[in-house]
This record gives sequence, C-alpha cells and structure tokens, in this order.
Amino acid sequence: MRLKDIKVAILTISDKGSRGEREDTSGLEAKSIVEAEGAKVISYEVIPDEQYKIEEVLVRLADFRDVDLILTTGGTGFSPRDVTPEATLAVIERQAPGFAEAIRHESLKITPHAMLSRAVSGIRGKTLIVNMPGSPKAVRESMQVILPALPHGLQILKGQTSECASQEHAKMTNG
Ligand code: MTE
Repeated sequence: MRLKDIKVAILTISDKGSRGEREDTSGLEAKSIVEAEGAKVISYEVIPDEQYKIEEVLVRLADFRDVDLILTTGGTGFSPRDVTPEATLAVIERQAPGFAEAIRHESLKITPHAMLSRAVSGIRGKTLIVNMPGSPKAVRESMQVILPALPHGLQILKGQTSECASQEHAKMTNG
C-alpha cells in the first residue's frame, strides 16, 4: 500500500478516446495500478489533444481539487497533435524532471522507441504532475519505474516529512 492516503487524478489525452472512437485502456491501466497501491482516484477524465483544454484541466485539478498526483497518459510523442508536455510545462511552477528522466532511462532498456516520448514532470502548488506515453504497456512500465520514489516525494510535497535520512535508513533496515 505504497500510496495510502494519496489523492490521484488520471487524465487521458487522446482525440479518439475523447470522441468515444477508442477505448481508453491506458488511463484505466494507470487507475488500477494506483488503486492497487492504496491511492484514491478522485478524478478520471478523457480529453482531446488541445493544449488550452489540457492546461485548464490540470489547473482545475491542482488548484481546486486538492489532488496530490496527476498522472497523464498520451500526447507525448512527435505527432503534430501531441502537446501534453507543452501544456504541462505551461502550468507547472517548479520542474521535477527526475520522474520523466527515470521513465525514459528505464524504458530505453525495453524499447528504443522510448526516445520518442517527450514526457515531462513537474510541480504546481502541492500537486505533482507526471506525463506517461499513451499505451497500457508504456503505462505499466512507467509506473513500475516511479512507484518506489512516489510515496516519499509526495510526503515531502504535502509537508508531512522533510526527513530524507531517516527514510533512507528505514529503507535500508527494512530491505
Ligand atoms: N515507453 C515505454 N516504457 N514503453 C513503450 O512502449 N512507447 C514509445 C514511447 N515510450 C513506449 C514508451 C512510443 S512508440 C511512442 S510514439 C512515445 O512513447 C510517445 O507515445 P504517446 O504519443 O502515446 O505519448
């Protein structure tokens, strides 16, 4: 239960998904993974690849819904319609590149196509936003990479701890 008491929003960004022409398996995959870790998914939406719309929803979730973590899926690639990273960069207040870097780094061991994701990660207020590519496989692979660091990062963001040393110690002694 690594994400107990964590409020998560899942945002799928897909033109076809938003028109009901394709089932959103990626967002649902993210939802079931975080729920299995004890998180509460308080919002799940599928929206088109429109930068203003993505920004609007990210701001609403971060500023008015008290969400700890927003996971986006889709719209990170090279297609002209892929603008999820631009929308994310427009609304974050502080960069937190480690999540996107770690996902790309580990994903490259699985597929060279990991280079094609322009995903970013950052912080708005007390909300962490992490982009993931738009396939259930990529979501599974990305989540496995970030899950170990999420609880401690979110605890610090929420002001529940500032102690990194004791966490490291606990991790080492607990295995
Ligand atoms: N990362 C992982 N871990 N696994 C994947 O299968 N697919 C790649 C890449 N990152 C992939 C991945 C592919 S094929 C693309 S085109 C880019 O993510 C962008 O995907 P998106 O446009 O759906 O966001």
